[in-house]
Amino acid sequence: MTMMNCGAFLRRAALATGIAASLALPAAAAEGEQVHIHKHEWSFGGVFGQYETAQLQRGLKVYREACGICHSMQLVAFRSLTDETGPHMSEEAAKQIASEYRISDINNETGQPFERPALLTDNFPPPFPNRIAAAAANGGAYPPDFSLLAKARADHRGFPGFIVDAFANYQENGPDYIYSLLQGYEEVPHGVEPVPGKYYNPTFLAGDWISMPPPLRDGQVTYTDGTPETLEQYSEDVAAFMMWAAEPKLEQRKEMGFKVMIFLAVLALLLYLTKRKLWRNIEH
Ligand code: HEC
Repeated sequence: MTMMNCGAFLRRAALATGIAASLALPAAAAEGEQVHIHKHEWSFGGVFGQYETAQLQRGLKVYREACGICHSMQLVAFRSLTDETGPHMSEEAAKQIASEYRISDINNETGQPFERPALLTDNFPPPFPNRIAAAAANGGAYPPDFSLLAKARADHRGFPGFIVDAFANYQENGPDYIYSLLQGYEEVPHGVEPVPGKYYNPTFLAGDWISMPPPLRDGQVTYTDGTPETLEQYSEDVAAFMMWAAEPKLEQRKEMGFKVMIFLAVLALLLYLTKRKLWRNIEH
């Protein structure tokens, strides 16, 4: 492809994308997929975003008291609760939390299974022995594991939303969704037939009916730091906690990204100056 052809091709591609984008916009709005999901201000949003230690600690409390009987979080180790860029708990506090969970282990000498309290090196044990038991206890629907859920639900913004988000560096779709879902339960609208064993929640991505009963209500979890004990606050805190569980190294990643950008900017400047110097005495 010659240079001119290449330029024309790029222009045409850009035009086509623009047309597709303008066509897709009304379609997405008509489906109403974004309507129930609210963008929220997160402490960890933006280029310099950071998790808020106190919020993660509250989110952990909500998880343990209101979600942990159904949802596992099997990739998160108790020791990570002491992470400086995470809940930043003292070792004693993390040990205390771990000791409240039971782990099935195997005796090294007899080979017999036995139960022991969890240690810092263990991961959060699942509340059910396996997926089938978890689904059976929840009307056939399996409560998904929390370890990566906040990231797994992050790509729900269809075209062109995800392209806009990529340029705007917007990565909080997952927590936005969880935050909205927890507050999204509604009365069954007039004239709609109730579905037995399901709850009406138009925010739910897989349809209006979810098998999860409303897990939170005002005043359910006690906060010791004076933070309001409301459904909204719980939803925010637990969504932030789930984001941390899914991406514990977010702060380091953002910091590294920023350093790389500075490095590239300096490198670009040096290359430009070098080029000017090398070509200074050459006719062109
Ligand atoms: C009584 C059991 C139970 C409790 C308690 C519970 N959940 Fe669920 N949850 C479920 C089930 C079952 C599903 C699967 C729903 C479905 O597929 O219809 C689910 C699904 C979810 C989903 C995924 C929705 C999706 O798009 O797939 C999220 C997020 C979630 N729960 C968050 C929470 C949070 C946060 C809490 C605690 C505040 C919580 N859940 C407490 C049973 C529970």
